[in-house]
Amino acid sequence: MEVVIAKHAGFCFGVKRALQLAEEARKSRPGEVATLGEIIHNPQVVERLRQAGVRQVESPTEMKAGTLILSCHGVGPEIREEAEKAGLEVIDATCPFVARAQKLVSLLAKEGYEIVIFGDRGHREVMGLEGYGRGKARIIQNVEEAKELAFRQKLGVVVQTTQEIGRYQELLSLLGEKCQELRAFNTICEATLQRQKSALELARQVDLMLVVGGRNSANTRRLAEVCASTGVEMRHIETAAEISPGWLKGRQRVGITAGASTPQWVIDEVTERLTGEF
Ligand code: F3S
Repeated sequence: MEVVIAKHAGFCFGVKRALQLAEEARKSRPGEVATLGEIIHNPQVVERLRQAGVRQVESPTEMKAGTLILSCHGVGPEIREEAEKAGLEVIDATCPFVARAQKLVSLLAKEGYEIVIFGDRGHREVMGLEGYGRGKARIIQNVEEAKELAFRQKLGVVVQTTQEIGRYQELLSLLGEKCQELRAFNTICEATLQRQKSALELARQVDLMLVVGGRNSANTRRLAEVCASTGVEMRHIETAAEISPGWLKGRQRVGITAGASTPQWVIDEVTERLTGEF
Protein backbone atom coordinates (compact mmCIF):
# COMPACT_ATOMS: atom_id res chain seq x y z
CA MET A 1 0.00 0.00 0.00
CA GLU A 2 1.34 3.39 -1.01
CA VAL A 3 0.94 6.34 1.35
CA VAL A 4 0.98 9.84 -0.13
CA ILE A 5 0.98 13.11 1.83
CA ALA A 6 -0.59 16.21 0.29
CA LYS A 7 1.92 18.78 -0.96
CA HIS A 8 0.59 21.38 1.48
CA ALA A 9 -0.47 19.97 4.85
CA GLY A 10 -0.08 20.80 8.51
CA PHE A 11 1.09 23.90 10.36
CA CYS A 12 0.69 27.24 8.61
CA PHE A 13 2.66 30.40 9.20
CA GLY A 14 0.02 31.93 11.54
CA VAL A 15 -0.12 28.86 13.78
CA LYS A 16 3.68 28.58 14.01
CA ARG A 17 3.91 32.23 14.93
CA ALA A 18 1.22 31.95 17.63
CA LEU A 19 2.90 28.95 19.25
CA GLN A 20 6.28 30.61 19.16
CA LEU A 21 4.84 33.69 20.91
CA ALA A 22 3.24 31.48 23.58
CA GLU A 23 6.44 29.50 24.20
CA GLU A 24 8.56 32.67 24.39
CA ALA A 25 6.05 34.26 26.78
CA ARG A 26 6.17 31.25 29.10
CA LYS A 27 9.98 31.42 29.18
CA SER A 28 10.35 35.16 29.63
CA ARG A 29 7.29 36.39 31.57
CA PRO A 30 6.97 36.04 35.31
CA GLY A 31 3.62 35.08 36.84
CA GLU A 32 0.67 33.55 35.16
CA VAL A 33 0.60 33.10 31.38
CA ALA A 34 -2.69 32.09 29.78
CA THR A 35 -4.27 31.94 26.35
CA LEU A 36 -7.72 33.33 25.66
CA GLY A 37 -9.52 30.23 24.42
CA GLU A 38 -7.52 27.61 22.56
CA ILE A 39 -4.47 29.24 20.99
CA ILE A 40 -5.00 26.95 18.00
CA HIS A 41 -7.71 24.35 17.49
CA ASN A 42 -5.73 21.22 18.16
CA PRO A 43 -6.28 19.33 21.43
CA GLN A 44 -2.85 17.64 21.41
CA VAL A 45 -0.99 20.97 21.08
CA VAL A 46 -3.20 22.66 23.69
CA GLU A 47 -2.45 19.81 26.12
CA ARG A 48 1.32 20.16 25.53
CA LEU A 49 1.12 23.88 26.26
CA ARG A 50 -0.90 23.23 29.42
CA GLN A 51 1.83 20.85 30.61
CA ALA A 52 4.41 23.56 29.90
CA GLY A 53 2.51 25.92 32.23
CA VAL A 54 0.31 27.92 29.86
CA ARG A 55 -3.29 27.62 30.97
CA GLN A 56 -6.43 28.56 29.10
CA VAL A 57 -9.07 31.08 30.15
CA GLU A 58 -12.35 31.87 28.42
CA SER A 59 -12.51 35.52 29.49
CA PRO A 60 -9.98 38.16 30.63
CA THR A 61 -12.00 38.48 33.87
CA GLU A 62 -10.75 35.02 34.91
CA MET A 63 -7.27 36.51 35.50
CA LYS A 64 -6.22 38.94 38.20
CA ALA A 65 -2.72 39.58 36.83
CA GLY A 66 -0.23 38.17 34.36
CA THR A 67 0.04 37.75 30.61
CA LEU A 68 -2.87 37.01 28.35
CA ILE A 69 -2.17 35.70 24.85
CA LEU A 70 -4.81 36.38 22.21
CA SER A 71 -5.14 33.33 19.98
CA CYS A 72 -4.37 33.28 16.26
CA HIS A 73 -8.14 33.55 15.58
CA GLY A 74 -8.20 37.11 16.96
CA VAL A 75 -10.85 38.76 19.12
CA GLY A 76 -13.21 41.70 18.81
CA PRO A 77 -12.10 45.15 20.02
CA GLU A 78 -14.30 44.93 23.13
CA ILE A 79 -12.40 41.87 24.45
CA ARG A 80 -9.05 43.52 23.80
CA GLU A 81 -10.22 46.60 25.72
CA GLU A 82 -11.49 44.40 28.56
CA ALA A 83 -8.08 42.70 28.88
CA GLU A 84 -6.21 46.03 28.88
CA LYS A 85 -8.63 47.53 31.42
CA ALA A 86 -8.02 44.53 33.71
CA GLY A 87 -4.32 45.50 33.73
CA LEU A 88 -3.18 42.34 31.97
CA GLU A 89 -0.12 42.24 29.74
CA VAL A 90 -1.51 41.39 26.32
CA ILE A 91 0.41 39.44 23.68
CA ASP A 92 -1.37 39.53 20.37
CA ALA A 93 -0.96 36.26 18.46
CA THR A 94 -3.71 37.13 15.98
CA CYS A 95 -2.69 35.80 12.57
CA PRO A 96 -1.84 38.72 10.24
CA PHE A 97 -4.38 37.36 7.73
CA VAL A 98 -7.12 37.55 10.36
CA ALA A 99 -5.92 41.04 11.36
CA ARG A 100 -6.30 42.09 7.70
CA ALA A 101 -9.90 40.80 7.65
CA GLN A 102 -10.60 42.73 10.89
CA LYS A 103 -9.30 45.94 9.32
CA LEU A 104 -11.48 45.42 6.26
CA VAL A 105 -14.60 44.95 8.40
CA SER A 106 -13.77 48.24 10.18
CA LEU A 107 -13.29 49.97 6.85
CA LEU A 108 -16.61 48.72 5.46
CA ALA A 109 -18.40 49.81 8.65
CA LYS A 110 -16.82 53.27 8.41
CA GLU A 111 -17.89 53.60 4.78
CA GLY A 112 -21.51 52.80 5.57
CA TYR A 113 -21.83 49.27 4.22
CA GLU A 114 -24.10 46.64 5.73
CA ILE A 115 -21.62 43.84 6.30
CA VAL A 116 -21.92 40.12 5.73
CA ILE A 117 -19.34 37.94 7.43
CA PHE A 118 -19.40 34.56 5.75
CA GLY A 119 -18.30 31.97 8.30
CA ASP A 120 -19.13 29.69 11.20
CA ARG A 121 -21.33 31.35 13.80
CA GLY A 122 -19.75 30.71 17.20
CA HIS A 123 -16.18 30.45 15.84
CA ARG A 124 -13.86 32.82 17.67
CA GLU A 125 -12.46 34.41 14.49
CA VAL A 126 -15.93 35.10 13.12
CA MET A 127 -17.20 36.55 16.41
CA GLY A 128 -14.14 38.80 16.51
CA LEU A 129 -14.81 40.02 12.96
CA GLU A 130 -18.41 40.74 13.89
CA GLY A 131 -17.13 42.91 16.76
CA TYR A 132 -15.18 45.09 14.31
CA GLY A 133 -18.43 45.76 12.44
CA ARG A 134 -19.59 47.83 15.44
CA GLY A 135 -23.22 46.70 15.07
CA LYS A 136 -23.33 46.77 11.26
CA ALA A 137 -22.18 43.21 10.62
CA ARG A 138 -24.15 39.99 10.50
CA ILE A 139 -22.89 36.45 10.22
CA ILE A 140 -24.09 34.27 7.37
CA GLN A 141 -23.18 30.60 7.66
CA ASN A 142 -24.40 29.26 4.36
CA VAL A 143 -25.96 30.21 1.06
CA GLU A 144 -29.43 29.23 2.34
CA GLU A 145 -29.22 31.94 5.00
CA ALA A 146 -28.09 34.48 2.40
CA LYS A 147 -31.28 33.86 0.41
CA GLU A 148 -33.24 35.35 3.32
CA LEU A 149 -31.41 38.71 3.16
CA ALA A 150 -33.50 41.75 2.22
CA PHE A 151 -32.33 44.00 -0.63
CA ARG A 152 -29.66 46.56 0.45
CA GLN A 153 -28.09 49.62 -1.10
CA LYS A 154 -24.51 48.86 -0.09
CA LEU A 155 -23.39 45.42 0.94
CA GLY A 156 -19.86 44.57 2.07
CA VAL A 157 -18.52 41.02 2.38
CA VAL A 158 -15.65 39.55 4.34
CA VAL A 159 -15.08 35.81 4.61
CA GLN A 160 -13.64 33.60 7.37
CA THR A 161 -9.99 32.97 6.51
CA THR A 162 -10.52 29.19 6.44
CA GLN A 163 -13.67 29.12 4.31
CA GLU A 164 -13.95 26.97 1.20
CA ILE A 165 -13.45 29.04 -1.96
CA GLY A 166 -16.26 27.37 -3.93
CA ARG A 167 -18.83 28.20 -1.23
CA TYR A 168 -17.60 31.81 -1.15
CA GLN A 169 -17.98 32.14 -4.93
CA GLU A 170 -21.50 30.71 -4.69
CA LEU A 171 -22.36 33.24 -1.99
CA LEU A 172 -21.05 36.15 -4.04
CA SER A 173 -23.12 35.31 -7.08
CA LEU A 174 -26.23 35.25 -4.90
CA LEU A 175 -25.40 38.49 -3.05
CA GLY A 176 -24.90 40.26 -6.36
CA GLU A 177 -28.69 40.11 -6.78
CA LYS A 178 -29.34 41.34 -3.25
CA CYS A 179 -27.89 44.83 -3.42
CA GLN A 180 -27.12 47.80 -5.61
CA GLU A 181 -23.44 47.93 -4.68
CA LEU A 182 -21.41 44.92 -3.61
CA ARG A 183 -17.92 45.30 -2.16
CA ALA A 184 -16.37 41.94 -1.41
CA PHE A 185 -12.96 41.06 -0.02
CA ASN A 186 -11.63 37.57 -0.45
CA THR A 187 -10.02 37.15 2.96
CA ILE A 188 -9.48 33.40 2.66
CA CYS A 189 -5.80 32.98 3.48
CA GLU A 190 -3.12 31.58 1.20
CA ALA A 191 -2.45 28.62 3.52
CA THR A 192 -6.11 27.57 3.35
CA LEU A 193 -6.24 27.88 -0.43
CA GLN A 194 -3.05 25.84 -0.85
CA ARG A 195 -4.19 23.09 1.55
CA GLN A 196 -7.62 22.81 -0.06
CA LYS A 197 -6.18 22.70 -3.58
CA SER A 198 -3.59 20.04 -2.82
CA ALA A 199 -6.09 17.97 -0.77
CA LEU A 200 -8.51 18.04 -3.71
CA GLU A 201 -5.82 16.95 -6.17
CA LEU A 202 -4.68 14.10 -3.94
CA ALA A 203 -8.22 12.92 -3.07
CA ARG A 204 -8.81 12.30 -6.79
CA GLN A 205 -5.80 9.95 -6.98
CA VAL A 206 -6.28 7.68 -3.94
CA ASP A 207 -8.85 5.20 -2.69
CA LEU A 208 -8.89 6.37 0.94
CA MET A 209 -8.21 9.86 2.23
CA LEU A 210 -7.29 10.56 5.86
CA VAL A 211 -7.81 14.13 7.05
CA VAL A 212 -5.83 14.73 10.23
CA GLY A 213 -6.63 17.48 12.71
CA GLY A 214 -8.81 18.78 15.53
CA ARG A 215 -12.53 18.09 15.15
CA ASN A 216 -13.06 21.67 16.39
CA SER A 217 -10.70 23.07 13.72
CA ALA A 218 -12.66 24.95 11.04
CA ASN A 219 -9.93 24.60 8.40
CA THR A 220 -9.58 20.84 9.02
CA ARG A 221 -13.34 20.36 8.73
CA ARG A 222 -13.27 22.24 5.39
CA LEU A 223 -10.48 19.94 4.16
CA ALA A 224 -12.67 16.98 5.08
CA GLU A 225 -15.58 18.49 3.12
CA VAL A 226 -13.36 19.20 0.11
CA CYS A 227 -12.03 15.60 0.06
CA ALA A 228 -15.49 14.09 0.56
CA SER A 229 -16.83 16.17 -2.35
CA THR A 230 -14.70 14.06 -4.75
CA GLY A 231 -16.58 10.90 -3.71
CA VAL A 232 -13.45 9.26 -2.25
CA GLU A 233 -13.82 7.45 1.07
CA MET A 234 -12.67 9.95 3.69
CA ARG A 235 -11.98 9.69 7.43
CA HIS A 236 -11.38 12.67 9.69
CA ILE A 237 -9.10 11.65 12.56
CA GLU A 238 -7.27 13.53 15.32
CA THR A 239 -4.57 10.95 16.05
CA ALA A 240 -3.03 7.76 14.66
CA ALA A 241 -4.71 5.75 17.43
CA GLU A 242 -8.07 6.23 15.69
CA ILE A 243 -7.04 4.34 12.55
CA SER A 244 -8.86 1.05 12.28
CA PRO A 245 -7.01 -1.78 10.43
CA GLY A 246 -10.27 -2.57 8.64
CA TRP A 247 -10.16 0.77 6.81
CA LEU A 248 -6.97 -0.26 5.02
CA LYS A 249 -7.95 -3.69 3.67
CA GLY A 250 -7.53 -3.88 -0.10
CA ARG A 251 -6.32 -0.27 -0.47
CA GLN A 252 -3.72 0.54 -3.10
CA ARG A 253 -3.09 4.21 -2.26
CA VAL A 254 -3.97 6.13 0.88
CA GLY A 255 -3.73 9.91 0.95
CA ILE A 256 -3.08 12.07 3.99
CA THR A 257 -3.80 15.73 4.47
CA ALA A 258 -3.79 17.76 7.67
CA GLY A 259 -5.25 21.03 8.88
CA ALA A 260 -3.20 24.16 9.41
CA SER A 261 -3.29 23.53 13.17
CA THR A 262 -2.04 19.92 13.00
CA PRO A 263 1.57 19.51 14.19
CA GLN A 264 4.11 17.54 12.16
CA TRP A 265 4.57 14.93 14.90
CA VAL A 266 0.88 13.98 14.67
CA ILE A 267 1.17 13.64 10.87
CA ASP A 268 4.33 11.53 11.31
CA GLU A 269 2.57 9.18 13.74
CA VAL A 270 -0.27 8.69 11.25
CA THR A 271 2.20 7.96 8.44
CA GLU A 272 4.15 5.52 10.61
CA ARG A 273 0.99 3.73 11.64
CA LEU A 274 0.02 3.29 7.98
CA THR A 275 3.43 2.16 6.80
CA GLY A 276 4.28 0.21 9.98
CA GLU A 277 2.64 -2.82 11.57
CA PHE A 278 -0.45 -3.13 9.42
FE1 F3S B 1 -3.55 32.42 9.56
FE2 F3S B 1 -4.57 31.10 7.57
FE3 F3S B 1 -3.14 29.88 9.33
S1 F3S B 1 -5.54 32.72 8.73
S2 F3S B 1 -3.56 30.97 11.20
S3 F3S B 1 -2.40 31.45 7.92
S4 F3S B 1 -4.96 29.06 8.37
